[in-house]
Amino acid sequence: MIQDILRHTSLNRQDLIDLLSVTQPEDLQTLYDAAYAVKAKTVGRVVYYRGLIEFSNRCIKNCRYCGIRRDNDEVERFDTAREDILAMAKWSYENRYGSLTLQSGERQDEAFIAYIEGLVRDIKELSHGELGITLCVGEQSEDTYRRWFDAGAHRYLLRIETSNPDLYRTLHPQDGHHEWHVRKTCLESLRRIGYQVGTGDMIGLPGQTIEDLADDILFYRDMDIDMIGMGPYVVHHQTPVGQYVMEQGLDSDEEKRRRFQLGLKMIAVTRLFLPDVNIASTTALQALHPLGRELGLKAGANILMPIVTLPKFRSQYLLYDNKPCVDERPDQCKNCLSARVVSVGDTIGLGKWGDSPHFFAKKE
Ligand code: 5AD
Ligand code: SF4
Repeated sequence: MIQDILRHTSLNRQDLIDLLSVTQPEDLQTLYDAAYAVKAKTVGRVVYYRGLIEFSNRCIKNCRYCGIRRDNDEVERFDTAREDILAMAKWSYENRYGSLTLQSGERQDEAFIAYIEGLVRDIKELSHGELGITLCVGEQSEDTYRRWFDAGAHRYLLRIETSNPDLYRTLHPQDGHHEWHVRKTCLESLRRIGYQVGTGDMIGLPGQTIEDLADDILFYRDMDIDMIGMGPYVVHHQTPVGQYVMEQGLDSDEEKRRRFQLGLKMIAVTRLFLPDVNIASTTALQALHPLGRELGLKAGANILMPIVTLPKFRSQYLLYDNKPCVDERPDQCKNCLSARVVSVGDTIGLGKWGDSPHFFAKKE
């Protein structure tokens, strides 16, 4: 049956649902192989790096699944000194990472906005304009997004988390500051300004159906998304969603395997449906399986985000439990990820931005 679907010239919603429902080992392998073949033909068997600097865990938001949510008092809050961020950027440049992602919890105050603006300018300058900069710092006004774009950032990541507004509502506090349609409007602003826009979802959330996941992929298409960063939901024990999942017995080894497999299937089906977008093989995959990120590349992903965050802060940036790479230094992460890429048979696009072909295809 899966072969029949894969022969369709264009997949419809039911096809996406059927592909995401596959569970037999041989069907899964056929699905992953088909997605890998599409990757080879469209974006190539090249993996691009986005050095990830998680520079602060202060956050005004209170997402019910996230370990650094505002109300988690057990987390020690940190800010990375400007010189340290610039030194990490220089290290990434010298190690030919091509591109950097600056990530933190969300803040919307002017001091934060101006700080990011200055950082982006300084990183552009120290790398002679060569390092690509992706920002991942949450919901902001269109004016703020524009200031950062004018400073030199050219990509922005903002996950929709789920395309189902009802499910979104169960995951975020209903205090009037966290609404699904605001996030969608932010994605539209980013597109208008000219960013390459990235979004994604969490996979295997309590209450999420296969139909929801198929709709997430349709959402990526409808929003004309260039880059996708998505990964399985992973429990953080000090969060309301994490505690609920544990109480309901939804965090057994079998459930974790199911979520992991769903994560790989989402990568594969997204690659088949949207052949020319960039898709990340995310760290959350590796939190559930030691070879998670390699398997993500084999299922069609073409982007890795080596962690460049200062080692002393890594244990304070835990969005979920069992996050890998917490005890490693940036040079260890570099060597480890290179070995992972080689094991898959892909090559590394060192020193290149590795922009999504999709972004340029629609400009032509
Ligand atoms: N499991 C998996 N992903 C998570 N994120 C936050 N908390 C978790 C979790 N418990 C993801 C969200 C957010 C991104 C920065 O991290 O999708 O957008
Ligand atoms: Fe803050 Fe992002 Fe965590 Fe939500 S997911 S609490 S916005 S860091």
